[in-house]
Amino acid sequence: MPRPVGAATFEAPPNIALVKYWGLRDRARVLPYNSSISMTLDRLRSRTTVVFDPRLDDDVVQLNGDPARPGPRTAVVRLLDRVRAMAGVAARARVRSRNNFPTASGLASSASGFAALAGAASFAAGLRLSSAELSRLARFGSGSACRSIFGGFVEWRAGRRPDGGDSGAAPLAPPGHWPTLLDLVVQVRGAPEKEVRSQDAMERTVRTSPAYGRRLAALPRRLEAIRRAIRRRDARSLFPLVMEECDSFREVCETTVPKLDYLTPASRQVLALVRRINAEAGRPVAAYTHDAGAHVHVFVEARDARRVRRRLGEVDGVDRIRSLRAGSGAHRVRAARSA
Ligand code: PMV
Repeated sequence: MPRPVGAATFEAPPNIALVKYWGLRDRARVLPYNSSISMTLDRLRSRTTVVFDPRLDDDVVQLNGDPARPGPRTAVVRLLDRVRAMAGVAARARVRSRNNFPTASGLASSASGFAALAGAASFAAGLRLSSAELSRLARFGSGSACRSIFGGFVEWRAGRRPDGGDSGAAPLAPPGHWPTLLDLVVQVRGAPEKEVRSQDAMERTVRTSPAYGRRLAALPRRLEAIRRAIRRRDARSLFPLVMEECDSFREVCETTVPKLDYLTPASRQVLALVRRINAEAGRPVAAYTHDAGAHVHVFVEARDARRVRRRLGEVDGVDRIRSLRAGSGAHRVRAARSA
């Protein structure tokens, strides 16, 4: 007997990686080579509604008001299939998802989108998963989505076991842990949409970048230092480490064959300006980082935010700057407020 099916809406935030997940030791199980750490962002949200409907012949997937393109559609349908198999549900689904921020350009819409989809699809299918189970499910849509289930500062432990039993995300510190830490999200004009899916891009890096082995060797020490700096709310220690990590990520991307280049000239100017601000002050006032996209995240302490923000705003090609804090994780939204 098929289980009763229904509808659900979930909201989920993007996250910005302080230590990047980049490279899978097992692609089918989505098991990474290295642990990663992120901050979940407040205010930015994906809102996703899933309705299982026995009258449908096929899944219908709408992203930001338009039918999903084949690549994202396939990834959504795969996650739905996984949920159907877990729940014993046969019905096809109608999926509507909206972001309140730009899609696929370094603001991690895949993380928020798949975290919201995992929540909405599993709940609509009658499953009542724990956060850890939801996180494991979201990972199959996009690796970084496993961290967006949780709020605050989050670590996805790579684990060692071949079956992935010891790989999973969990909170390091709650959203209110470090209220004076701000992420100035610097949106640049003309940021291209991603050409290569991250999973394909990172596979290419693992295969071809001569710098990848060195990156992995340096990570345990950096991970531990970043955990400690977050725990102690120590910006002076954290900021140089965040930039070192971002530079390491960019190095393996740029030495990938063919090269992966996510930045625009404006993004590069933002990185240079942050280095200049720190050099002028003689202390780490700010830290830049970026994911696989052109927008740059600049961390600052609240007392320095106005000054840094004004200077970032003067960079040619900077479109918009948002000031975000650590926020809460994915959650269900009551029916009247569907996507
Ligand atoms: O989760 P994916 O497949 O979109 O890959 C994300 C990879 C980075 O954003 C670059 C790093 C990270 O840890 O979020």
